[in-house]
Amino acid sequence: RDRIKSISLPTDIVEQIGKSKNIIVITGAGISTPLGIPDFRSNKGLYKFDLKKYGFKRADEMFNYAIFKEDPAKFFRAAHLILPEDNRYTILHAFLKELESKGKLLRNYSQNIDGVEDNAGISPEKIIRCHGSFNTASCQTPKCTFSTDGKKIFKLMKLQEIPICPRCAKKRPKMLAKHDFQTYGVIKPDITFFGEDLPTRYFETVDDDIEKCDLLIIIGTSLQVSPVNEIASKMPHHIPQILINKDPLLHCDFDVSLLGFSDHAAMYLAKKLKWNLNHEDFEKLRHR
Ligand code: OAD
Repeated sequence: RDRIKSISLPTDIVEQIGKSKNIIVITGAGISTPLGIPDFRSNKGLYKFDLKKYGFKRADEMFNYAIFKEDPAKFFRAAHLILPEDNRYTILHAFLKELESKGKLLRNYSQNIDGVEDNAGISPEKIIRCHGSFNTASCQTPKCTFSTDGKKIFKLMKLQEIPICPRCAKKRPKMLAKHDFQTYGVIKPDITFFGEDLPTRYFETVDDDIEKCDLLIIIGTSLQVSPVNEIASKMPHHIPQILINKDPLLHCDFDVSLLGFSDHAAMYLAKKLKWNLNHEDFEKLRHR
C-alpha cells in the first residue's frame, strides 16, 4: 500500500486528534476486555473456549446462522457467557464520548454487541453497531414483525431457555412437529451472525462517512472480519490511520501503532490533549 505518512509518532497522534473534526473510530472486543468481557481471538478469547457441552464442535459456531437455524437451543444454552452485565464502561469508552463532546467524532463503527457505548453516554446516531447488539431482539418467523427490548429476554437467556414470541407461541408446537421449523417463534437477539446481512444502517452511512473522514482510529480489534475491515482499505491514502491494540496487526499497514492496552492509550491521549474524561478511574490515575 502506497500510503502518504503524515504522522508517525505518538506526539503526532495528539496533534492530529487536536485538529481533526471528522474522526472515524473502528472498535472491537478488545476495548471491553477490561470489564471482564472476553474478546474472540486472543488466547483467552471466546473462540478458545470449549463450548462442546453446549453442542458446538468449535466455539465460533456459536454465531453461525445456519447452525442457529438447525438448533437455536445451542445458542441459548451458551448465550449467558456473553450477556452484558451492568452499567460499567471503560476509560477508552469515556475517551470516545469525549471525542463526541468535542465535536470530533464522525462515527464509531463498533463491532461490539455488548452495548457498552450506551453506558458511556455516546449518542446512538454516532454509533454504527456493525454486528448488531443485544439492545433489541426479534421473532424469527418470516413475516412476523414482533420485536422487543433485548433486555426483556435476558432473564430467560440467563436460565438458558429459548425466548418465544407471544404471537407465534400457539402455532410453534405444530410447526416443530410438522415442518421441523426450529426457529418458528424463536426470539433472537439482533446480533449479526455469520451468514446474516449487516444492519442496513451500516451500508447507508459507510461510504459517505469515508468521504468525510479526516482521521481513522482503529482500537481493540483484530480486523479479521469483513466488511468492517474494508473501511481501512477503502480510506483515501492521505487520511492518517492509527492503530491502538494489544497485539500488532501484521496484515495491515498503519501510520502509527500504539501497542498496549486501550485504557492506557486513552489515559495517555487525554492527558496530552488536556481533556478530562468522565470516568471514576480517570481522576485516580491521571497523576501517575
Ligand atoms: P478479536 O477477538 O478478533 O480481536 C480483539 C483484539 O483486541 C485482539 O487483537 C487483541 O489483541 C486486542 N485486545 C484485547 N484486549 C485489549 C485491550 N485491553 N486493549 C487493546 N487491545 C486489546 O475481536 P474483534 O476484532 O472485535 O462477531 O472481532 C470481530 C468480530 O468477530 C466480532 O464482532 C464478533 C467476532 O466473530 C460477532 O459478534 C457477530
